[in-house]
Amino acid sequence: MTLRKRHELQIAIDGPAGAGKSTVAKLVAKHLNLFYVDTGAMYRAIAYKALKSGISIDDEEMVSQMAQTTQVVLDHSEERLVWCDGENVTQAIRNPEISRAVSIVAAYIGVRQRLVELQRLEAARGGVVMDGRDIGTYVLPEADLKIFLTASAQERAKRRWLELQSAGKSVSLEEVTQDMLRRDRQDTEREVSPLEPARDAIILDTTGLNVEDIVAEILTLTQEG
Ligand code: DC
Repeated sequence: MTLRKRHELQIAIDGPAGAGKSTVAKLVAKHLNLFYVDTGAMYRAIAYKALKSGISIDDEEMVSQMAQTTQVVLDHSEERLVWCDGENVTQAIRNPEISRAVSIVAAYIGVRQRLVELQRLEAARGGVVMDGRDIGTYVLPEADLKIFLTASAQERAKRRWLELQSAGKSVSLEEVTQDMLRRDRQDTEREVSPLEPARDAIILDTTGLNVEDIVAEILTLTQEG
């Protein structure tokens, strides 16, 4: 692996929901002083806007058209706010209603083209840790390091449920598990950029591991090559 200079590094972190991508990616970005780009938040913002505008989530043409003129901005402050056409949607995009709708809009090629364009613009600004489903396979195929994070379905559902609990959202573990499995299926089986590890990705199973150990392992990998 030939690594770019440290401040220009591109690190792709992909994997299914609840594998720990965003927690790990944020910490790696902080350690290396790189931007963190949460691409899932961008897909969520599109789902949010469609629902809010009364556009049917199943109407591919309308949702794709809407996406072309939607401004999704991730700010790089500590708060990591997510803006959709000037509205702060940071909290709203985490609602279970959005989690249910997002895999549908993420399967639309028009939506993906628009967001991939924005994601590549982010990466062109400098070094980046980007997390999502297709970063290593499609968005940044030349990334210096590609990590595919995974964990058992049971552990992933439990992590998501705990996150929602601490955000004051009342849902049962069973509901979270079912939603997550449905989303995994939709993300893995879609035709455009399905969730899969890049051929040159390093697969890390985080089941039973703590965040610090995973971050340390990734930081070590950035020093190799
Ligand atoms: O990481 P997340 O749960 O916030 O992602 C929300 C949804 O967006 C998820 O169902 C898959 C989709 N997604 C995608 O298709 N491609 C990405 N690069 C990131 C997310």
